[in-house]
Amino acid sequence: MESPAFEARRQAREATSQADQSAIAYEHGVGANLYDADGNRYVDLVAGFGALALGHANAAISRAVASQMERLPLALGDVYATQIKLDLCERIAALYPEPDARVMLGLSGADAVTAALKTAVLATGKAGVVAFSGSYHGLSYAPLAACGLAEAFRAPFAAQLGEHVRFTPYPAGDSALGGSLDSVRGALEGGDVGAVLVEPVLGRGGCVVPPAGFLPALRALCDRHGALLIADEIWTGLGRSGAWLASVASGVRPDLVCLGKALGGGLPVSACVGSNAIMRAWGKHGGTAIHTATHFGWPVACAAAMATLDALEREQLPARAAEVGSRFIAALREAGFDAQGQGLMVGVVLADASAALSVSRRLLGEGWLVLTGGSQGNVLTLTPPLDIDAALLDAFTQRLAAAVHPER
Ligand SMILES: Cc1ncc(COP(=O)(O)O)c(C=O)c1O
Repeated sequence: MESPAFEARRQAREATSQADQSAIAYEHGVGANLYDADGNRYVDLVAGFGALALGHANAAISRAVASQMERLPLALGDVYATQIKLDLCERIAALYPEPDARVMLGLSGADAVTAALKTAVLATGKAGVVAFSGSYHGLSYAPLAACGLAEAFRAPFAAQLGEHVRFTPYPAGDSALGGSLDSVRGALEGGDVGAVLVEPVLGRGGCVVPPAGFLPALRALCDRHGALLIADEIWTGLGRSGAWLASVASGVRPDLVCLGKALGGGLPVSACVGSNAIMRAWGKHGGTAIHTATHFGWPVACAAAMATLDALEREQLPARAAEVGSRFIAALREAGFDAQGQGLMVGVVLADASAALSVSRRLLGEGWLVLTGGSQGNVLTLTPPLDIDAALLDAFTQRLAAAVHPER
């Protein structure tokens, strides 16, 4: 019934890992616990690809969704909005580090990146984009063209992707910073680049944290060459990386910020937020709303987003993620693992993809749900709910040693 791509992936993973990779079927979840259709219970350290910041079946989100669904499931997007959409835009605008920001809503992360890339063309008149190796921005055409995670995503569709994206290396350590910035500078000097699109910490790329000077240096280069700095915070934002916005926490004001994943608490909603000075470019197009969709501003997802933002704020989850995450990373390192990341986006680097798939399967058998990621597929990627009990992370660190070294 599903796309043949999924069965092909399962077979490839079995060939790589020599381990059974058959799927489980999710049945229901509560907080950080997940139950499958056979009644098995798991600790969910993936949390919907990091989107379930408040875990499964959060009561406040469920109530907000049910209530909005009963009152009004759909309005008229960009023609007549709902009050809840306007409230959400105001709330998201307040996250931007400058007053009077403007917000464009979408459904997926890819929608938000698309809106940002279109904004950059309108605001700068330049179609070129600088993107980074190892980065991931979604798979509809505009973000796919900027996908640096693996050539496999782009190759079959290359003829429909244009040639406007320059890929530059993402600096994984201090020694790589100079080379990466030289490469960005070289691309900008061509004069046709309107946007530098960057993840403040690589997410799917393996939770890679760049040197502290990276984003400030990109900001300076963008200013010098008249390009917009777009922070893709779909993974890092809203607390996941230990701050409301990782870019702002590293001392930078991006021109545009993309949010998604956690925003909807499990429902699809995303946002591109930026300064009014830049967003104003959308007002110059002949009175037609040239970027819209039937479900943009979906009131039900807006209600879920409002409840999510309330909870993140009330429970101070960004700060908690910073604290719990840094203890988790320190404990993993103390246990001898090559752990990287920031906040509660944590990567454990293993020898290769085969090891990562085998270990993740062993963990699944013991009731721990993890994903593999990174450009080479060799990183266990952990994005638990931001309110997860820290004792579960301690217990995971203990179990991981046994899963990585079953022979001991
Ligand atoms: C940094 C980043 N940007 C964009 C996206 C795309 O989001 P979506 O899958 O909702 O289109 C992702 C998804 O993993 C992401 O991690």
